Amino acid sequence: MDTQKLYIEGGKRIEGEIHLHGAKNSALPLLSAAALVARGESVLHNCPQLTDVYAACRILNHIGVKCRRDGSSVITDAGNITCCEVPVKLMREMRSSIVFLGAVLGRTGRCRLSFPGGCELGPRPIDLHLAALRDMGAVIKEEHGYLDCSAPEGLKGAAVTLSFPSVGATENIILAAVCAKGTTEIHNAAREPEITDLALFLTKCGAKISGAGTDLIVISGVDTLTGCEHTVIPDRIAAATYLCCAATAGGELVLSGVNAEHLGAVIPIMQAMGCRIYSFGKDSIYISVRGRLKAPTTIRTMPYPGFPTDAQALLMAAAATAEGTTVFVENIFENRYRHVSELLRMGCSIKVEGKVAIVQGVKRLYGAELEATDLRGGAALVAAALGAEGKSVISEIHHIDRGYENIEQALRNVGADIKRK
Ligand code: EPZ
Repeated sequence: MDTQKLYIEGGKRIEGEIHLHGAKNSALPLLSAAALVARGESVLHNCPQLTDVYAACRILNHIGVKCRRDGSSVITDAGNITCCEVPVKLMREMRSSIVFLGAVLGRTGRCRLSFPGGCELGPRPIDLHLAALRDMGAVIKEEHGYLDCSAPEGLKGAAVTLSFPSVGATENIILAAVCAKGTTEIHNAAREPEITDLALFLTKCGAKISGAGTDLIVISGVDTLTGCEHTVIPDRIAAATYLCCAATAGGELVLSGVNAEHLGAVIPIMQAMGCRIYSFGKDSIYISVRGRLKAPTTIRTMPYPGFPTDAQALLMAAAATAEGTTVFVENIFENRYRHVSELLRMGCSIKVEGKVAIVQGVKRLYGAELEATDLRGGAALVAAALGAEGKSVISEIHHIDRGYENIEQALRNVGADIKRK
């Protein structure tokens, strides 16, 4: 897909400060929410400049939402939505465009999009999204790879119990419910900070939502939403990524523009590995790493506030050279160990059996030719390469660009030897 690669000469100590960008996984549902706002402009500050976010803006423009960027802010005007179909090409650009379903259906009474299908992380069904929307009165036809959704009598509130606290399903239900008739309850809702951010934005626009951040969210439908200004929360996974880069390369790093509370499951594990980490001021974290780290025993990925699946590959890069054995248990996605085969090329000792990966820490990793297999797996290769001896070349870096603003510049500014060409 792209011919550019990252070239990393490992073994350089990291020192300096990285300012975090806004969260991709918040920006996407927030842009979808902006399509619901019938009156006035919405302004999203700290909206990261990422390929996935550009794709979301193209979807908005396609359906008739005026969407323009001014630096790190995105300004939208959804006064006049003209279309309710997301073309296949735009759906393919970003799997998470399924998050437009609830909003477009809620706003226009119809939504037609191609079935998102599987991705590099596994099959990724959307059955929970569809069952909830059907409970709310949507008629959904699935044919020839397309989803044709309509709400002939408008959407109405319903009590929905999710069998798993899916982030995307919770977002789609909230988006469909804010302007539905009556009250919607989401039981066993996802509790991720990105859900709270979405609810906060919608509440500022006039929606009535309570319980976001808990497992019971209650939404009372309102007639219309009015635009507001909102600042996207910091990207907690980008923060975890840069902490892991400091862990593999060693050195001292300050992360600013970050919310340490959102890293409650990551920081204690890294501290137990021997990283010195503390938060200071209103939004900064300091990390210092000296010498060989200790293996953190077992890391089980769980829905928030548990350990995030998005940080699993990154912690694996840090555990690869730690003293001792680390057991990873991936409970969220079926196929989230694709980075392992690449880490093995660098000299890691890792065995995978189903959802378990056992990492036996080795003293040193060696630079190698590597391929980014997915977004976070690709970032984990960057972290591993920073701490390895010699040169690594990482291809397929379009995966990494989906979630990190100019990762090589951020790392070069703190002393890493990394180039894109
Ligand atoms: C969101 O994906 C994130 N994406 C993912 O981040 C993240 O890994 C994931 O949540 C878990 O935290 C965005 O926010 C855009 P889920 P999402 O629905 O919403 C199964 C990254 O690297 N499931 O909570 O798709 C599903 O197959 C990305 O930034 C069903 O079975 O995650 C998966 O196994 C990757 N049926 C599990 O639930 C459904 O209807 C969790 O999925 C929905 C989900």
